[in-house]
Amino acid sequence: MNLKTDFALDHLGIAVNSLKAAKEIYEKLGLALSAEETVEAEQVRLVMVPLEGTRIELLEPTSEESVIARFIAKRGEGLHHICLRVPDLAAVVGELQQEGVRLVSKEIKIGAGGHRYIFVHPSSTGGVLIELVEAAH
Ligand code: CO
Repeated sequence: MNLKTDFALDHLGIAVNSLKAAKEIYEKLGLALSAEETVEAEQVRLVMVPLEGTRIELLEPTSEESVIARFIAKRGEGLHHICLRVPDLAAVVGELQQEGVRLVSKEIKIGAGGHRYIFVHPSSTGGVLIELVEAAH
């Protein structure tokens, strides 16, 4: 496997019960927030909090079946995933599959804004859910 130095921390994903309450906390810190966005496929409503070089993603479930709702029911609110931005997602996924790393979905998905992403299962990462997104070219 080739060692890579061009990955970046794209965002930290945080599961919250109430986007309204969570937004108030970050506003109190003096941070600017993006507009709310709903991702139907993942059953979440989200807000991005831009930081120097990275972002915080606040995720509120929009249904009881949402993975975020199930996460909160099991573990409570808090850090849900980290997201790494990679130059060539298909290449990284190919390498992970060769190494036998467990991915949450079989294929790369297309998310909000047309970005390509996939999740690496926490059972293969020492307990951390890792989202991989492809850098805009
Ligand atoms: Co994310």
